Amino acid sequence: MAGNDKYGKNARRGFGGLRVVSFESRMGEQSRGLIEKAGGIALCAPSMCEVPLQDNTAALDFARDLVEERFAAVVFLTGVGTRYLFSAIEGSFDREGIVAALNNTTVVARGPKTRRALGNVGVRVAIEVPEPNTWREVIAAMSDGPNPINLAGSRVAVQEYGQSNHEFLEALRDRGAEVDSVPVYRWELPDNRGPLVEAIREIVAGNADVLLFTSSNQVRNLFKVASEAGLEGQLRTAASEAVVGSVGPICSQTIREFGIDVDIEPEHSKLGTLIHTAAQRAIEVLDSRRRVGDRPRMMIESASATADRLDLEDSVFMRACRCEPTERAPVWLMRQAGRYMREYREMRARVPFIELCKTPQLAAEVAVTAAERLGVDAAILFSDILLVVEPMGLGLTYAKGEGPSLSSPIRSGLDVGRLKEVRPEESLSFVFDAIRCTRANLRPQLPLIGFSGAPFTLASYIVEGGGARNYIHTKRLMYGDRGAWDAMMSLIARAVAAYLRAQVEAGAQALQLFDSWVGCLSRDDYETYVLPHTKAVLESLPPEVPVIHFGTNTGTLLDLQVAAGGSVLGVDHRVDLRDVCRRFPNVAIQGNLDPVTLFADRAFLRDACERILSRVAHRSGFIFNLGHGILPATPVDNVIALVEVVKEWSAGDAE
Ligand code: CP3
Repeated sequence: MAGNDKYGKNARRGFGGLRVVSFESRMGEQSRGLIEKAGGIALCAPSMCEVPLQDNTAALDFARDLVEERFAAVVFLTGVGTRYLFSAIEGSFDREGIVAALNNTTVVARGPKTRRALGNVGVRVAIEVPEPNTWREVIAAMSDGPNPINLAGSRVAVQEYGQSNHEFLEALRDRGAEVDSVPVYRWELPDNRGPLVEAIREIVAGNADVLLFTSSNQVRNLFKVASEAGLEGQLRTAASEAVVGSVGPICSQTIREFGIDVDIEPEHSKLGTLIHTAAQRAIEVLDSRRRVGDRPRMMIESASATADRLDLEDSVFMRACRCEPTERAPVWLMRQAGRYMREYREMRARVPFIELCKTPQLAAEVAVTAAERLGVDAAILFSDILLVVEPMGLGLTYAKGEGPSLSSPIRSGLDVGRLKEVRPEESLSFVFDAIRCTRANLRPQLPLIGFSGAPFTLASYIVEGGGARNYIHTKRLMYGDRGAWDAMMSLIARAVAAYLRAQVEAGAQALQLFDSWVGCLSRDDYETYVLPHTKAVLESLPPEVPVIHFGTNTGTLLDLQVAAGGSVLGVDHRVDLRDVCRRFPNVAIQGNLDPVTLFADRAFLRDACERILSRVAHRSGFIFNLGHGILPATPVDNVIALVEVVKEWSAGDAE
């Protein structure tokens, strides 16, 4: 009997207090209302954001070919997409012409909403697709329905939505059709991923009972965010424990592709019907599968590690790297661990610099002490960009007060031949141990930045044998022997790429690529001799890990650096932040206080800092830093004061 279970008399007719996750975006509020009405506790985690394609050339090309009557058939897959397609082409073509041209071809409409959208503008639908409206029904209706099209040799346009439907396009091509895909918008992750991250946290911790999906893109985006946090496996396990509802067969297919079973699929593919059906069946499904409160041990144990990982991804620094809104500007400082700090000098009195870098526990201590003392929003690995050069076969020393020096520098094509390929896992294992040790000793919410020198800056040391003023040897090799230069740069790029990937594996949340000396090049030289190699490095890194691409004296090269890659552009104090922000709206920006400002009095320092912050006040995706590293003689109190000012000022601004 319905009333005899532990959820009370009416529970069987509703969710009975179960926690129900909805991933709806546009229909989020409606979805919450329906879940609550059905007795559930709603957890709403918008997982998508609709981004119209600007300057939609595919739509305009389609319209041109359409009015020239080049298509035998046009397939419309969604109602929203159909409406958007019309509005995208309407500025350039008149609607009557488009409608007339469509009425001269065979128009296929995938579902009732699409048919209605077409009907509203006066387009006659020749082929209607029966339920459940997957691509298989579309193909069947086109080739075997009452008005079949001879697909062989015909040109067919397909209005695509979000993710391209490869299987459908391939099936059309298999039947001999020439296919034009007409994308109208993309589904992207929402600007604010907070609720989605929160939902993953709850699901993985076993605190969500029912998961309701109404589109394939919700599933993909959920797993994308989980995989960025390294939680894909745990999410899959936890989702299999919950009751999973899917709006219809296409969505169910995607859910299954991610290794999760679908428990509930309503008779009609509608949000309301899904929630209603799930409310009727959820408790029954749960009862048959698990006893409430009897959660697997593994999930409880991993919940705190999971929460830490999510906190990291959700930190102000990581959010700013991803250009997401933050309550205040994050701040960290290049060379935050160094000689300006007493603790560091004391350590160095006991241990030579290279040995310090090669002793993971000590390197970790230096990095953690600096980050904690300053109260910054990220820690950076303690190491040096030149350590990767040693395993190439060059001797590295740091002479007191003189900076680094490399024995037997590479000056000719013949010399390049003796550079050794680097296998970072073998020769630089102390760096990865330092990352693991630093990570283990840092506050769990504080992201750790790994780093490497960029190919050009490393090449400049390899060729010059140390620091340089005019880079004469470097440029002589670069201009004089292109083959040798490219061979050397490729070898360095391979080493750097593998080195950075291994740093991520070891536990770094973000990376910085230091191209400190590339500003000595002209634009032409950067494009010819450097960009392809830097790009190769950046393209090889996992796309979800933020990379700060930094250079100094690069005011004239910034667009080329952005083209080479990286999600954050690191700029020095010589550029105007307003210009940089205006020119590069799609990358985050890091910078750019002159490090020498830290020698001025507090009032001046405060003004300089506020000037920077006011220039970026309304931008998502700004990380406060210096334009270059902290200098050894800098008063430590000023550095601490700077961090405080940034935190206070930018938080005040946000309120
Ligand atoms: O907090 C941090 O940023 C520490 C990690 C770090 C160091 N070097 C430690 C270091 C990082 C990220 C670097 C990068 C680095 N190293 C760059 C790129 C950044 C930049 O400043 O442009 C470059 C060009 C180098 C090469 C290098 N290493 C030089 C020129 C010097 C000598 C100059 C100096 O500041 O002493 C080093 C030595 C070095 N690297 C020290 C530290 C703390 C000083 C060593 C000591 O204790 O004597």
